[in-house]
Amino acid sequence: MDHLFSTYQLKSLALKNRVVMPPMCQYSVTEKDGIPNDWHYNHYVSRAVGGTGLIIIEMTDVEPEGRITDYDLGLWSDDQIPTFQRIIDAVHFHGSKIGIQIAHAGRKAEDANVPVAPSEIRFSEAYKTPRALTTDEVKGMVEKFRLAVRRAVKAGVDTVELHGAHGYLIHQFQSELTNKRTDEYSALTKFGVEVIQAAKSEMPADMPLIMRISAQEYVEGGYGIKESIELAKAYKEAGVDIFHISAGGEGEIAAAGRPGTHAGYQVPLAREIKRAVDVPVIAVGRLDEPTLANAVIGNGEADLVAIGRGMLRNPYWTLEAASKLNKQTDIPKQYKAGF
Ligand SMILES: Cc1cc2nc3c(=O)[nH]c(=O)nc-3n(C[C@H](O)[C@H](O)[C@H](O)COP(=O)(O)O)c2cc1C
Repeated sequence: MDHLFSTYQLKSLALKNRVVMPPMCQYSVTEKDGIPNDWHYNHYVSRAVGGTGLIIIEMTDVEPEGRITDYDLGLWSDDQIPTFQRIIDAVHFHGSKIGIQIAHAGRKAEDANVPVAPSEIRFSEAYKTPRALTTDEVKGMVEKFRLAVRRAVKAGVDTVELHGAHGYLIHQFQSELTNKRTDEYSALTKFGVEVIQAAKSEMPADMPLIMRISAQEYVEGGYGIKESIELAKAYKEAGVDIFHISAGGEGEIAAAGRPGTHAGYQVPLAREIKRAVDVPVIAVGRLDEPTLANAVIGNGEADLVAIGRGMLRNPYWTLEAASKLNKQTDIPKQYKAGF
């Protein structure tokens, strides 16, 4: 029976366990140039030392104006590749696999002079009103995603994750609330599908593509699991191999849409997408109790589990989980005495 420490293989991605470090923005770029620094190096490499199966580098944007803040990572220039490569090589040296989340913040680009979006609808009164992309600019944006994925592959990643969740650009196109376009991109899945196809065209044929989606919107009138199953079907058809199931991020939380705050609150969404779309999924959201994370895998609710804030607290979360669950895992020889 599968458990948190059983191996996992999908296409060329071979993981030593089912533990994922999900993308988490560090807002720590020093020179506003999108290039990782020593903070990022230590942050990611320490989670590899800590035994994580798959590390996903934080939201990394396809153009400068597509960042949440000027302190976010980017892959809009070849000059950015070598420092990512240095992190990726070191993570590999310590036995983990690594991917990167490729993204554009759209209307949630807080430091952009004029953010861009599918339509001119601002996120909230605290945010700038975005400018709607022209049809040609949307096609240009797909190309920017393509080039960022090309650079990620050059840097040596094992997988790529597209950010289609949390109210950022891809999500803005796939939601009725933020996509009021009248051109061909009024079709809610069209932008996402084209980005997926562009990403795949740059990835080796056997490298799996992950896509993060918000499977449920929390705002009044937002989409729910029924719609996100259809969305996932279209994205799977376009080339997504694994879905990373999150929720929300598109605006003010409505009373009816308020998520639970209990452990594993997003697991039912992951389980439902896995079942209805017949696709591997990563579950995330308050899963940092090892017995719970292990049960999610053992009960077949998800293929992988991601531990976010738990790993901010403890880079060695995975090693400690193995110890608590009495599972075999490789502990660095320098740290054996600690276990
Ligand atoms: C500091 C911080 C930064 C985050 N940045 C991102 C991000 O870059 N991309 C993303 O998809 N989610 C991001 N998230 C969400 C996490 O990936 C994760 O889904 C969320 O924290 C829930 O999981 P947890 O309960 O294990 O922390 C971030 C979360 C935190 C706490």
